[in-house]
Formats: sequence, C-alpha cells, structure tokens
Amino acid sequence: MTSVAIDMKQVRKTYGKKVVAVENLSLQVKTGSIFALLGPNGSGKTTTIRMLTSLVSKDGGDIHIFGENKIDKHVIGCVAQNSGVDPLGTGKENLMMQGKIYGLKGQILKKRVDELLKMFHLEKDQNRLSKNYSGGMKRKLDLAMGIIHKPRLLFLDEPTTGLDPEARSDLWKMIKQLQEEQGMTVVLTTHYMEEADELADYVAFMNEGKLVIEGTKESLKRGMKSDTLIFQSPHVEKAKEVLQGENQLVVKEDKLHVQVTDGATKLPELLHELKEHGVDIDSVTLSKVNLGDVYFMHTGKTLMKGESK
Ligand SMILES: Nc1ncnc2c1ncn2[C@@H]1O[C@H](COP(=O)(O)OP(=O)(O)OP(=O)(O)O)[C@@H](O)[C@H]1O
Ligand SMILES: [Mg+2]
Repeated sequence: MTSVAIDMKQVRKTYGKKVVAVENLSLQVKTGSIFALLGPNGSGKTTTIRMLTSLVSKDGGDIHIFGENKIDKHVIGCVAQNSGVDPLGTGKENLMMQGKIYGLKGQILKKRVDELLKMFHLEKDQNRLSKNYSGGMKRKLDLAMGIIHKPRLLFLDEPTTGLDPEARSDLWKMIKQLQEEQGMTVVLTTHYMEEADELADYVAFMNEGKLVIEGTKESLKRGMKSDTLIFQSPHVEKAKEVLQGENQLVVKEDKLHVQVTDGATKLPELLHELKEHGVDIDSVTLSKVNLGDVYFMHTGKTLMKGESK
C-alpha cells in the first residue's frame, strides 16, 4: 500500500473569470493520518475538498489518490459542509438508502447499517424522522452515511461546526476511532483550532486560496515561544512601543499579545517596564501557545471572530 494517500500538485480552480478559489495548491497527505485544513471563510477549503472528491473539476494541476490519478468513488467517502441527510427519512432509512447507492444489499447492508447505528449511538433513535434529530445527531448520521462503504480515505468538511462542546467531543472520539481502529485516512476542514489540535497529525493553513503554513502540530508550535501574555490597557499602542524589544508581539482586538518563553517569570519584569513608561494596565492573562497563535503570527488574521483570546 502506498504511504501517500493524497498528492496534489499545483492545483488551481477559478470560478467564473474572477474568483480564484484555489491557487497552485500542492500538498501531501500520509496514509493513515488525520490531516486538518484550516482557514477563514472563503479561503478555498471546500473547493479543495470538492476537487479531491471530483465534485468540481480542477482548472489545472495534478491530483493522485493512493497513486492513481482517477478518483475511485469506492475508495473515498465525503461528508459535505451542508448535511446530506434526507429530513423526511428516518435515521435507518437514510443509512439504507446510502448503502444501496454504494451497491450494498440484503443481509450485508442490514448488518452494516446496524453496526453503524451502534457505533454512532443512534440505535435508540433509528426509527425517528431525521428532521427531528438534534444537530449533533444529524452530524453523526452524516458521518455514518459517509463511511457506509468503508472508504479508505474520508473527507469531512467542517464536521462539528455549530455543535455544542459535548457533541463535538463525541464526534472527535468517533473520528479518532475511525483512524485508529480502521486505519482510515481523514482529511478535515475546520475553523476550530482546538479541533485541529485535538485530532490532527498534520495541519495546513489556507488563506485566499493558497497554503500559508503547514506542518505537524509540534513543528508549527516549535517555532513559537510557549506562552502568550495578553495585556489589556487603555494605551495599548504605547504598551507595544515600550515592549517592542520583545520579539513576537502583536496587537489584536485592542489587546497586546506578547510571546514569551516563561510567562510567569517574565510578567513582573514587563509590568515594571510598562509602569516606568507610565502605561496603565487593566488586566493581564497568560495562556499556552496554540495553533491560533501560529496562524495569527503568520498572517495577522484570526480564523474566526470571537475565537481569539
Ligand atoms: N460554486 C461557486 N461559484 C462561484 N464561486 C464560488 C463557488 N464556490 C465557492 N466559490 C468562491 O470560492 C472561494 C472559496 O470558497 P470555498 O467555499 O472553497 O471556501 P471555504 O474555505 O470552504 O470557506 P468556508 O469556511 O466559508 O466554508 C470564495 O471566494 C467563494 O465565494
Ligand atoms: Mg467551506
């Protein structure tokens, strides 16, 4: 079996004449890994997934999936950004229908559907109309439908957007289980840094159709100092000037973020310096560096409003 699940080289997609959705994108996904594609709205994540699953054609470049340049529908599974669940069918009916699309029938189909209902904890609700499911249940059903044919490579476009924390962590467990127990390769898109942090082996950030940074979580964080000190002050620009000597430092939403190696030790020193220059500080918080900080330091953008610290 090839160790590379996806090999994309210089792939491009333009909608109409003007909208360059994906620009010369090259990336590789290792077999058996969980790969997270992150980026703000409109950065080209869904378009990338749609090209990889041949839902839209690419304008140029090469795509190889498990070494083949033809995409075999039986090898891949896809859970789209918008739910593919038929609201007028029950959970079970949705799964049966999906199985039939992939050519499953009889006892094999029945057995597979029961297995999935169990795995996704939907047994109790299998005969309810899925329009009455909660968001989390619907997403689980979507995921179950996406893997009915046991694909080797699964695409998940924003699998947990809009779900409450409990439903999200439930889905995370299921996604991990697919990787660990069934050896599935998973490519997911997300706006949630915690999601990438929790699940992914490898992370790639997109911005305006291009890849801006990529690497393992560890390698991305390695380039950063371990702590962030966040100062709230009525004179945030002045505070920035005073601490300019500190290397990684940035103002975000009227707060000054300073990357330091050891926040607890560094804090008194910085506060002293600010005080000497007459800068008032309202509050200080200390947080551990996360992938959001990595993205922010590279692009000056946050991934999602309200997500920033
Ligand atoms: N069918 C389409 N026709 C025209 N333009 C499109 C189409 N689909 C996407 N686009 C444009 O392509 C760009 C990339 O969109 P895409 O949906 O890939 O982004 P995304 O990263 O998935 O965003 P989001 O986080 O909001 O889901 C955007 O400018 C979008 O408006
Ligand atoms: Mg999208």
